[in-house]
Amino acid sequence: MIETGTDVVYAATLLRRGELVAIPTETVYGLAANALDSNAVMKIYATKKRPTFNPLIVHVAETNDIGKYAADIPLNMWRLAERFSPGPLTYVLPRKAIIPDVVTGGGDTVALRVPAHPMARELLSLIDFPLAAPSANPSGYISPVTAAHVAQELGGQIPYVLDGGECTVGLESTVVAFDGDRVLVLRAGGITLEALQEVCPQVEMRTGASAGSPGLLKSHYAPRTRLVVGNLARLADEYAGQKLAVLALSDFPRGDNIVSSEILAPNGDLALAARHLFAAMRRLDASGADLIIAERMPERGFGIAINDRLDRASAE
Ligand code: TXA
Ligand code: MG
Repeated sequence: MIETGTDVVYAATLLRRGELVAIPTETVYGLAANALDSNAVMKIYATKKRPTFNPLIVHVAETNDIGKYAADIPLNMWRLAERFSPGPLTYVLPRKAIIPDVVTGGGDTVALRVPAHPMARELLSLIDFPLAAPSANPSGYISPVTAAHVAQELGGQIPYVLDGGECTVGLESTVVAFDGDRVLVLRAGGITLEALQEVCPQVEMRTGASAGSPGLLKSHYAPRTRLVVGNLARLADEYAGQKLAVLALSDFPRGDNIVSSEILAPNGDLALAARHLFAAMRRLDASGADLIIAERMPERGFGIAINDRLDRASAE
């Protein structure tokens, strides 16, 4: 059995020794190691079975720590950080030499984030190094939003899961890069495009394989059960002969062949839907259905990030 608890001092001790610890953040649980210790970081890739070309996010205690690990920081980053850090926003910046190659996939940029979860912040305040941490799921599977999710999949492989309760955002951080005055969104996530635009008017989506975010593999966040995304009434009709699990925003068509269903937000609130998404996908995946049919969300606010995760989950 994997050990789960709330002992932040113990977690810090393990990390100092070069061990891995799963940690809560406000977005999803992370699989953390000392970002300045290449051997410790290598264990992350091995445990997740993650390809080493896919770089990791480095978590720091304070916005001001970003300057220890990144160079040539643009004014737009400070503007965004003033508003959104600590929080679910990650900045891709030119790296300083102190960051090992294994963290960046050998590239010349490093992704940095200041998490807002109180337990993550307390942990970071106890150690004198930053934490490299991808989501704490096996590569390609749904990100964990509770300590129990982590224990289910990484049980026996890591010494400790720090339990900080259920993640309040429920989706990974938004990842941004900078090009002149432009803010390039490499991954939609916990901060919406609209919110970014309030601070920096020139915001552009750069998602997909060409984004320069090597981790944005097409198939990702995938349940083991096949998943299709679209209009629910149409999908229910098309797959009438199969045992269906339904993932809906606020309502769905009834039918005898529906074996399981999840409503993400009865009031249609997309932020609430984001918070419930990954846990709902896991329950549907365990329901014994032949197929999960998922409703495409409105393409605004958190709907953009949810649709991105659903599209990846449906990729073959
Ligand atoms: O909310 C989150 O971001 C969570 C928590 C634990 O902080 N972490 C997370 O990490 O989602 P991960 O590894 O699952 O996703 C990080 C994404 C990947 O798509 C990766 O390719 C991208 O960030 N990334 C990391 N470093 C990058 C870099 N230097 N340039 C471009 N993309 C980068
Ligand atoms: Mg991930």
